[in-house]
Amino acid sequence: MESLNEASVPRPLLTLDHIPVGGFAEIEAVVEGDAESLILYREGDTVRAWLNVCPHAGRRLDWAPGEFLRSKDGLLVCAVHGASFELNGGGCVAGPCRGEALRAVPVVVRDGAVFLL
Ligand code: FES
Repeated sequence: MESLNEASVPRPLLTLDHIPVGGFAEIEAVVEGDAESLILYREGDTVRAWLNVCPHAGRRLDWAPGEFLRSKDGLLVCAVHGASFELNGGGCVAGPCRGEALRAVPVVVRDGAVFLL
C-alpha cells in the first residue's frame, strides 16, 4: 500500500464561504517553495486560482489587497494598466498583454474548503 507523504497531502487555503459567489479573494500561499499572492475566483462551488501577477509588468492585479476590478462584461481587470482577463483560463483578451495569460495554480474544493494541490 502506498503511503501519503507530506508533499501529496493537500493544504487548505481558506473556506469556501470566504469567497463570494462569482467573486474573488486574495490569499498568500507557498507555491513551489515561494510565498505568492493568489487570486481565487469562485464560480458556484468551484474555484479557480492564478498567481496574482500580471503578465504585462509583473504587478499585482488588485487595487488593494483582495479588491479586484471587474468589467461590465465580466472580465477581471488589472488595476495597474487595465489588462482584461477571461475567467476560464485566465487569458488576457484586451489590454497591453493581450494573448498572454495569468499563471494558473491548481486548487480543489473539498468539504467546503479550498486546497492547494
Ligand atoms: S501590470 Fe497589469 S496591465 Fe500593466
